[in-house]
Amino acid sequence: CEGTAAVMLKFVVVHMGRLGPVVRGTRCLVRFRSTSATENHELARERSKTVTSFYNQSAIDIASEKPSVRLTPTMMLYAGKSPDGSHILKSARYLHKELPVRIAHRIKAFRGLPFIIGCNPTILRLHELYIRAFHKLSEFPLINDHETEAKYCQLLRRLLDDHKDVVTLLAEGVRESRKHIQEEAVVRQFLDKTLTSRLGIRMLATHHLALHEDKADFVGIICTRMSPKKVIEKWVDFARRLCEHKYGSAPRVRINGHVAARFPYIPMPLDYILPELLKNAMRATIESHLDTPFNVPDIVVTIANNSVDIIIRISDRGGGIPHEMMEKVTDYHFTTAESSTQDPRLGDLMGNMVDMVNSGQSSPMHGFGFGLPTSRAYAEYLGGSLSLQSLQGIGTDVYLRLRHIDGKEESFRI
Ligand SMILES: Nc1ncnc2c1ncn2[C@@H]1O[C@H](COP(=O)(O)OP(=O)(O)O)[C@@H](O)[C@H]1O
Ligand SMILES: [Mg+2]
Repeated sequence: CEGTAAVMLKFVVVHMGRLGPVVRGTRCLVRFRSTSATENHELARERSKTVTSFYNQSAIDIASEKPSVRLTPTMMLYAGKSPDGSHILKSARYLHKELPVRIAHRIKAFRGLPFIIGCNPTILRLHELYIRAFHKLSEFPLINDHETEAKYCQLLRRLLDDHKDVVTLLAEGVRESRKHIQEEAVVRQFLDKTLTSRLGIRMLATHHLALHEDKADFVGIICTRMSPKKVIEKWVDFARRLCEHKYGSAPRVRINGHVAARFPYIPMPLDYILPELLKNAMRATIESHLDTPFNVPDIVVTIANNSVDIIIRISDRGGGIPHEMMEKVTDYHFTTAESSTQDPRLGDLMGNMVDMVNSGQSSPMHGFGFGLPTSRAYAEYLGGSLSLQSLQGIGTDVYLRLRHIDGKEESFRI
């Protein structure tokens, strides 16, 4: 109860101005709990003041009004490399100015969430995580020398690590609370924006850190001659291992089309999207062939490269997505993971998909219903698209389209 009261108190001060009398009433209730003795009253007042100043800070308000300065991959690629390392200082100064603005925009979005979601303890924890990141980044001294820049890199590394579980926490926090609200579109918009903005911030921070490394074919996070086939193969191996671990076997994957293509691209977002799509295709293949688990149809991945974009099609023979589900599969939290575990034939073969925690860069999201919506949001953020064609009774084709970063027209901005 103490914990709940504290959470309520926090949320209430966050939303004080917006919600008026209802909230102020709640605030009184929350306070009332701690006013049995005078010292408790004082303590509660102090705590309330601290919480208020933590959530409502003019520095965040000011930063959240500033526009974000987004870069194209080409700008990042051709930012130049100077022997004295001044390109690194320039990049650090850009981040020093830009990151607090982006984080402040996110904090504003947390503040704007419907009451019932914003008050969820997991969401409040995330909200606080962003506020703390804002402080660390905005209070960092100006970066004029390499020593300060090295400290800034340490801070970036720490923050990347502190925020590594944000997607899982968002999925959990919103799932618990969204049942109580009608505004589906508000939730989708919030998740799309929070997730793509996070991807952008992580790409920028990782790019800066990677500028220090001297890796062949790489400028920061940009691979100057990326082979889509190689990236696909890496995630096929990963998904097959996961699938074998869960089901005892895994479908084979054939890659065809423009297998020799190489072009400049950023592999990082593919490292999220590809494993999610491949896991889905493998799961559908295995679960639609439970009577012949060691003899299942191959999955076929086709690469099509042209001057405008690159298309990756993943075709499986996993029975397809039923008509009535087509609209829903790209909704956040839509999953059939629970119902499929009911099939007695799966037995020990599988266990629960939810515990399919994968290591490395891909998130442990299987069973949360985040794979498709997040992949689609990322693809659109990258100036592309994700679309599904289901041949009900046969299988599914997923088309991932991504715009080239060195094409004639602007690809996207990070
Ligand atoms: N290739 C596919 N074939 C059949 N069904 C699919 C396929 N990909 C996705 N689905 C359906 O869409 C749902 C949502 O997918 P996703 O967002 O990745 O969440 P999750 O995999 O956690 O369930 C899945 O639970 C499954 O029912
Ligand atoms: Mg999935």
